[in-house]
Amino acid sequence: MKYHTLLKHAQAARKRSHSPFSRFRVGAAVLARSGKVYTGCNIEVSSYGLTMCAERNAIFKAVSEGEKRFKAIAVVSDLDHFTSPCGACRQVLMDLAGDIDFVMGTSDGEIKVMKLGQLLPFPFGAKDLPKPKS
Ligand code: THU
Repeated sequence: MKYHTLLKHAQAARKRSHSPFSRFRVGAAVLARSGKVYTGCNIEVSSYGLTMCAERNAIFKAVSEGEKRFKAIAVVSDLDHFTSPCGACRQVLMDLAGDIDFVMGTSDGEIKVMKLGQLLPFPFGAKDLPKPKS
């Protein structure tokens, strides 16, 4: 699938954003190696810290549907410049999807692709944890 098409899925998800507090709409679309696309939007609640970003909603949906291998994630917001993911999303994506392509789109259709490893260099991960005792 072309990244332009993946961004269209993210744009459709952004329309479903529930962001009454920030009024900042974000949409994401994850492309799994299976070829399936899983979308997510940001969802805000009145206890602000419980808010969930679009990227994490999308990857959690994919993993909860049984996906394990991923190719890319596309993200759009209402900004006319690229939306870079927050630190929490970088960690979650690195853990669950690895060094995938992170595709950013602007409201005027510009595209920028970065590797997740560029956005989160020298990551902490499961490899750093002690082996569980059996
Ligand atoms: N947000 C995302 O969903 N993804 C990002 O990459 C940046 C921030 C959301 C969280 C919150 O609902 C709103 O944008 C403002 O921070």
